[in-house]
Amino acid sequence: MSSRFPSALTRRRFLAGSAAAGAVLPLGPAWADTHRTFTLRAAPGRARLVPAPWGESDVWCYGGTVPGPGLRVRQGDRLRIEVENALAEETTVHWHGLRVPNAMDGVPHLTQAPITPGGTFAYEFDAVDAGTFWYHPHQRSFEQVGRGLYGALIIEEAEPPRVDRELLWVLDDWRLTQAAAIADDFGGFHDKSHAGRLGNTVTINGRVPDAVPVRAGERIRLRLINAANARIFALDFGNPAPRIIALDGQPVAPHAAPGGRVVLGPAMRADLILDVTGARGTTTSVTDRFSARDAYRLVDLTVVETRLRDAPPDWPMALVPNPLPEPDLTRALRHAVTFTGGMMGGMVERQMGLAGGGGMGGMMGGGMMNRMHDGGIWFVNGVAAEGHILDPLLVLERDATHVIAMTNATAFHHPIHLHGHSFRVLSRNGAPTARREWQDTVLMAPRERVEIAFVADNPGDWMFHCHILEHQAGGMMGVIRVA
Ligand code: C2O
Ligand code: CU
Repeated sequence: MSSRFPSALTRRRFLAGSAAAGAVLPLGPAWADTHRTFTLRAAPGRARLVPAPWGESDVWCYGGTVPGPGLRVRQGDRLRIEVENALAEETTVHWHGLRVPNAMDGVPHLTQAPITPGGTFAYEFDAVDAGTFWYHPHQRSFEQVGRGLYGALIIEEAEPPRVDRELLWVLDDWRLTQAAAIADDFGGFHDKSHAGRLGNTVTINGRVPDAVPVRAGERIRLRLINAANARIFALDFGNPAPRIIALDGQPVAPHAAPGGRVVLGPAMRADLILDVTGARGTTTSVTDRFSARDAYRLVDLTVVETRLRDAPPDWPMALVPNPLPEPDLTRALRHAVTFTGGMMGGMVERQMGLAGGGGMGGMMGGGMMNRMHDGGIWFVNGVAAEGHILDPLLVLERDATHVIAMTNATAFHHPIHLHGHSFRVLSRNGAPTARREWQDTVLMAPRERVEIAFVADNPGDWMFHCHILEHQAGGMMGVIRVA
């Protein structure tokens, strides 16, 4: 590999090494000798988000970098992560998408006492599923994540598909001032009641990216993580279209993204196989087309001279499924969840034939305004969450299959996340999905109805919330109890 590789974008991949890296995964559950220990220190720091002439920005981050250290282990390893809080406020760490025991889930007050400034907490759990995951605070996450507290958690398959190279892109979206400082208007009412805190600067691995050099003919596994508070990406890689092999860490039958766009709401991940077919010297752009009006070029891929092969390899790309319990739809217990609220929500509720009441806008009654200003902007089955201690929205019988029929009766998109489980996405607006993909966060379009199914095999109280962090802070959150 020439010295031009790896690019800046790959540099963080192995920052958090471990003593036994490269050890062979033992057979069976005898995992005691595969402990991986990490330390994560959450603290204020400085990061160069944007190139000169701008300077560095003040951030909050793990381990002094944005993103924080990439934690990389093998499926079946046991992780121990000691978190030190050097922030001036309480924090916790949530392991997004991992099926961990409830006490390790990092939800303040609900699953643990928040880590006080100067305090520590040790998280310990098994890496049950292989895949692309991430970690972030769950305390005031709209500000803590928004200032840079997040990192990748990669769990390697015992037998990963053959590729020439792997890249990890952690996407983020920042609202920066002209002086490259993070605008400190977190939690503003407009962001909460509309599409969340959209920024003006998109970064890959904590930097506005330079062109990424790729080699003619090479096969790349690209892991994508959307760590933004609110921005939804719809990435168009041009031709040939990459194949999606995993969503939210979970294997999916390899396929080209529908409509040529890899759509990632906040917190969502995708693993792609990218075959570079262009000739030396050519550049292809990755374009974010989520907003037709504001499409922009995210990054360029530039083909450099080394030619690895003349045609794409015929190596298999399908991943081995993770050990997820398969829902039994013939015996499923059914539940309904309706999301309401936000700007123009009342109008949508009336159009959808719902009673109306959660939404503001249209005719904004005085009662509604009062309710809004009490803190509730978004409602889950009519309730706006305050804090993390909540009466359960649903109580699910343990080890049974549950189908949740969700209705987005609002004028906005919402990436809905369930802790502690992955679920199959069964249908959208009544039509079965093509691949019944496993997800932990499902993006719902305005007025959309989505059905998900899963076996509730992980006991405890689990957060269920919109991952647009301003919506979460505005009440779009509930607790699902598995008992
Ligand atoms: Cu990634 Cu409850 O969060
Ligand atoms: Cu939302």
